[in-house]
Amino acid sequence: MTLGPKRVLVTGAARGMGREIALEAARQGATHVGLTDIETDGLAETEALVRAEGADTRGVVANLRSSGEIRSMIDDIAGWAGGLDVLVNNAGVRDHLFADADKVGVDTLDEDAWDAVNDINLKAVWLATKYAAPYLRASDRGPSIVNAASVSGMTGAGMAAYAATKAAVIQLTRTTAINLAPHVRANCYSPGAIKTPMGDSHLAAAPDRLATARAMYGTHLIPRRGTVNEIAQVACFLASDAASFLTGINVPVDGGTMAWRGMQDVELDVDLD
Ligand SMILES: NC(=O)c1ccc[n+]([C@@H]2O[C@H](COP(=O)([O-])OP(=O)(O)OC[C@H]3O[C@@H](n4cnc5c(N)ncnc54)[C@H](O)[C@@H]3O)[C@@H](O)[C@H]2O)c1
Repeated sequence: MTLGPKRVLVTGAARGMGREIALEAARQGATHVGLTDIETDGLAETEALVRAEGADTRGVVANLRSSGEIRSMIDDIAGWAGGLDVLVNNAGVRDHLFADADKVGVDTLDEDAWDAVNDINLKAVWLATKYAAPYLRASDRGPSIVNAASVSGMTGAGMAAYAATKAAVIQLTRTTAINLAPHVRANCYSPGAIKTPMGDSHLAAAPDRLATARAMYGTHLIPRRGTVNEIAQVACFLASDAASFLTGINVPVDGGTMAWRGMQDVELDVDLD
């Protein structure tokens, strides 16, 4: 499964899955790997790593909460690469980045936190799609968009804004597939719990690590967290010509979480009357 000589842009590329998607794209033959993030140092590190994999690369710092910055970042990357074939809308944030852990529910979340998560997880995905669309339509190298959703967008999750935005990304992906068909494909994937530095620090800081691990990935039929490369492989497959008849789909990459109803280890009220 090889992506081949495409010009790729990855958002949220300073770390985590975004960095690995950029690296995997380079390993799979992408000629140009454009990177964007708000984190300058991490972006520079990813640039060096991608260059070491043999692809041309360019990082552009942009705040995904700014329509103007998204637009000029895309024009910059497409101008540098001589076009654009793949947009990976990877960047995403959880409510916890803007609110205390006990204030992420529908009745506790602040409006500012709701707006921030919606801007980054949903509006920015739409804006990047809108501004990248003319370049993708002009591409003759099998253009497509790949969006990061989440299992939290497919089943109820305790974070008011995150879950709502990820469900919306799945729907936006379908609309994108319709509006840009047939030339430009659009798909998304929904990770389960993935091993990232942020997840590691969450686990390390937990008073009861086993209980926290169970809450994070106790519903995985494959009883571990996924790796960033397992996500990158799927993202690159969806962007590759091997997926040329796939558009408008959502691929769970979740160790089987969505295949069942996930049993809780709690005392049950066994009412026989
Ligand atoms: N980690 C998981 O287990 C998991 C599970 C399901 C879905 N996801 C989704 O996968 C994607 C990647 O997750 P991750 O864990 O690698 O994320 P991460 O937090 O490690 O990285 C997100 C990146 O987005 C950047 N970013 C945040 N706000 C920004 C802004 N305003 N402008 C520009 N860049 C900004 C950050 O600087 C960071 O580099 C996200 O969309 C996330 O919602 C993650």
